[in-house]
Amino acid sequence: MTNLLEVSGLTRKFAGLVAVDNLDMQVAAGGIHAVIGPNGAGKTTLFNLISGLLPPTSGRIILAGQDVTRLPAHRRAALGVARTFQNIRIFGAMTVLENVLTGLHTTARATLPEVIFRLPRFRRQERDAVAQAMAALDLVGLRDQANSRAASLSYGDARRLEIARAMAARPRLLLLDEPAAGLNPAETTRLADLVRTIRSAGTTVLLVEHDMGFVMDISEDVTVLSFGRRIFGGPPLAVRQDPAVIEAYLGHKVAAKLAAGATTGVRGA
Ligand SMILES: Nc1ncnc2c1ncn2[C@@H]1O[C@H](COP(=O)(O)OP(=O)(O)OP(=O)(O)O)[C@@H](O)[C@H]1O
Ligand SMILES: [Mg+2]
Repeated sequence: MTNLLEVSGLTRKFAGLVAVDNLDMQVAAGGIHAVIGPNGAGKTTLFNLISGLLPPTSGRIILAGQDVTRLPAHRRAALGVARTFQNIRIFGAMTVLENVLTGLHTTARATLPEVIFRLPRFRRQERDAVAQAMAALDLVGLRDQANSRAASLSYGDARRLEIARAMAARPRLLLLDEPAAGLNPAETTRLADLVRTIRSAGTTVLLVEHDMGFVMDISEDVTVLSFGRRIFGGPPLAVRQDPAVIEAYLGHKVAAKLAAGATTGVRGA
């Protein structure tokens, strides 16, 4: 199986702290890969490094065989990297559709005069962008709310809106930072279905989550971080039985619940 993403020796320091420490990780193309670990383990920092929001202190990031380590975020977005944020980031005063359209600016090619005078090429691009955004809303089940104000959405729908915005540009790699946080069990099940649909449609998914039922249910591959280091990587079954992972993150109670087949309400530290 080929890898869509490879990071090697990836390190990010903040003042005296090493948030990501000499990390090697491979993400198989077409898979669902989870990154887990305690609070402060460096999971969000890793996503910031992959998406280009932060430069690494050292190390390399290879996307589909191309070294993107020095590319700015918008260039990586154009190469197919999209993400959601741990803390929801939507524009409440805008409509649902307008929020999704903000995810498409990297692909727009009209010049400023073409935009100002609404020349044909701009109007055609605008039409295409709306069609693409509506397809993304369809994917997450929010088409009917396209013209509602984003602020009027329920929390669960707002999180789906973020996924729609990330998916609008049809990324190759989707990074989801704690997508199940704050969701009830029914919404979490629906999210798992959505993530599987996204993967089936050809987007590789890399996600961070503390909901262990969700992680174990959905991922083929799990990387466990602790203090910025990879302490384990492998399939979910092996992860939840690994003594170092139980010690650093899961705890014995959670490991026992997972072994007994629990899929909801089981959270890591
Ligand atoms: N911009 C920053 N400046 C300084 N320190 C930072 C910065 N961003 C993160 N850190 C620190 O780096 C470490 C890793 O943080 P990070 O947010 O990546 O953890 P996390 O694994 O996502 O945790 P959580 O599960 O709580 O979201 C923490 O100690 C955090 O305080
Ligand atoms: Mg985080």
